[in-house]
Amino acid sequence: VEKTFVMVKPDGVQRGLVGEIIGRFERKGLKLVNAKLLQVPETLAQSHYAEHKERPFFGELVTFITSSPVFAMVLEGDSAISVARNMMGKTNPVESAPGTIRGDYGLTIGMNIIHGSDSAESAAREIELWFSNETIAYDKAVDVWLA
Ligand code: GTP
Ligand code: MG
Repeated sequence: VEKTFVMVKPDGVQRGLVGEIIGRFERKGLKLVNAKLLQVPETLAQSHYAEHKERPFFGELVTFITSSPVFAMVLEGDSAISVARNMMGKTNPVESAPGTIRGDYGLTIGMNIIHGSDSAESAAREIELWFSNETIAYDKAVDVWLA
């Protein structure tokens, strides 16, 4: 069982897509193990996207992610990291397949609705960074029908 960090970006929150996005992950069978709405401090935005700090769009990315609240969550389930990434679609919504979150709701790479951890290492780093590693372990009756 894996945990992954997923965040609805400011454009997704502003467009009223939080419920729709959580619903997709719930119906898929991923379990919410933590979640919060927050205004992202500049320092957190810079740490989160540290791997992109030399890229030309880094400033734009930090400005965007701190421009309005985000909805951050931790999801748990079998292969949760790749399952969530596949449900999000390709980074650029122009290339994301219909049926994916970015494919259905995104239009440009600068505002692509959602973030998800891209590896086990990223997931561990991001769950620590955004939630100080705090998650809630609980059983759901449906768990036995999922794995
Ligand atoms: P995240 O889940 O947000 O990390 O997206 P990703 O893993 O699919 O893509 P990546 O980590 O390569 O890029 C991080 C984010 O930077 C993307 O989601 C985009 O929002 C943004 N980004 C990437 N490339 C560009 C670009 O060329 N221009 C702009 N404005 N933003 C970009
Ligand atoms: Mg990324």
